[in-house]
Amino acid sequence: MSSPNSTKGLHVITWGCQMNVYDSARMTDVLAPLGYRPVESPDAADMVILNTCHIRDRAAEKVFSELGRLRLVKRERADQGRDTVIAVAGCVAQAEGEEITRRAPYVDIVLGPQTYHRLPEMVARAARAGGKVIETDFPAEQKFDFLPEAITAQAVPGASAAAPGLTAFLTVQEGCDKFCSFCVVPYTRGAESSRPVASVLAEARHLVARGAREITLLGQNVNAYHGTGPDGSDWSLARLAHALAEIDGLWRIRYTTSHPRDMDDDLIAAHRDLPQLMPFLHLPVQSGSDRMLSAMNRGHTADAYRRLVDRLRAARPDLALSSDFIVGHPGETEADFEATLQLVRDIGFAQAFSFKYSPRPGTPAAGAPLRVAESVADQRLQALQALLREQQAAFNADCVGRRAEVLFTGPGRHPGQIAGRTPWLQPIHVEGGESLIGARALVDIRAAATNSVSGALIGGARIAPSQTSEVDCLQPALEDHRA
Ligand code: 5AD
Ligand code: SF4
Repeated sequence: MSSPNSTKGLHVITWGCQMNVYDSARMTDVLAPLGYRPVESPDAADMVILNTCHIRDRAAEKVFSELGRLRLVKRERADQGRDTVIAVAGCVAQAEGEEITRRAPYVDIVLGPQTYHRLPEMVARAARAGGKVIETDFPAEQKFDFLPEAITAQAVPGASAAAPGLTAFLTVQEGCDKFCSFCVVPYTRGAESSRPVASVLAEARHLVARGAREITLLGQNVNAYHGTGPDGSDWSLARLAHALAEIDGLWRIRYTTSHPRDMDDDLIAAHRDLPQLMPFLHLPVQSGSDRMLSAMNRGHTADAYRRLVDRLRAARPDLALSSDFIVGHPGETEADFEATLQLVRDIGFAQAFSFKYSPRPGTPAAGAPLRVAESVADQRLQALQALLREQQAAFNADCVGRRAEVLFTGPGRHPGQIAGRTPWLQPIHVEGGESLIGARALVDIRAAATNSVSGALIGGARIAPSQTSEVDCLQPALEDHRA
């Protein structure tokens, strides 16, 4: 076994949402003082962490099949006299900790999302005892009070290796008290809690000092943020966004995921008043049927959602909307599904995620009667996705002719091209030199595809960092990310 001070390889495999991407980077940070450094392959890793997601079915099965592969790696490395610590983190660990150690006895550490700050101590305990460490309680202490400063560049989707850290995630809120009928999050991530304002601002300043120009604030119910401010009062997300907008060098602020019930007047006004707050909002509605919204325990009607969108668009006319939908929730009839299609037609989404209902053990809907047949749910999903794809293509086409400020994050698909994101989160490609990577510039959008747009730099113009731009017209799930 390597000595405590030598460099050791760490391989992290991440499934699920942006918060897991953020958490994986923080686990990497907390292990750095122990000598762990990221490596590309599990074969070179003294420790492998699987950061798992439990939101929909077969998540646990994916974990067990990856564990099967890792078991062989561990055995081969043991034959060469090298130890491999295998840790399972994230929401599957939280929900199925005992089952993991039963089915995969070669797993050394199982840790839930609220215990990442204790990882070094768990590694030491696992090495000492040569046995299992399981930590899936919800500790009294806040992990953020104990995690070190963020140093590891996050594997942010869409960001480029050419400019790691230019766009960053920052968790400000975690957990959920809403208990939607279908959702495991309140059980795996625990009760809703917000990080204190000072801790969020310190991390944001640190990220900006290390080159971040765009920060996405994360929370399972991010717009329910109510962190304690320096004066002891509760700050809303709107107030936090205003404070973040004061940070010199932070050009863009985004936040996800929001609940319609927590979209307050101040946050709506912030979309009007803060140029740094990007005109894109992921606002899950799940269904367009009042009957289903009630069965899902969402706490609002379809018309309340329509009215909310009207108010948001009045505040920020070019706001692009995204959402999450579930089809085939128990009790969903053809008329309910038709109401969902109607809501989609009424709103016009720039993009959206849609899922077939997947029963999660322990949630109220899992035991509900009137299950929708798989074949019916499949058909509904296809119909909904066809409509959403049409709307995404229409939104992109509608952007042709607009002038937008783009943050360039990496090289484009072809030589001589660079790529970035528009304010509305669309991937965009333009002809341009790599010296623009890390800068923002005005672009005329000239062509659209279903998932992206392309355009031309306006006179090759680069916007100076201190200058606020004049602009005419201003998503859970991830696939595997290996850090
Ligand atoms: N089945 C299908 N989709 C689900 N989601 C959450 N739980 C389930 C489930 N049991 C979807 C919701 C949520 C998104 C993150 O995942 O649409 O907004
Ligand atoms: Fe899950 Fe979101 Fe509902 Fe909370 S609000 S229970 S995280 S779907």
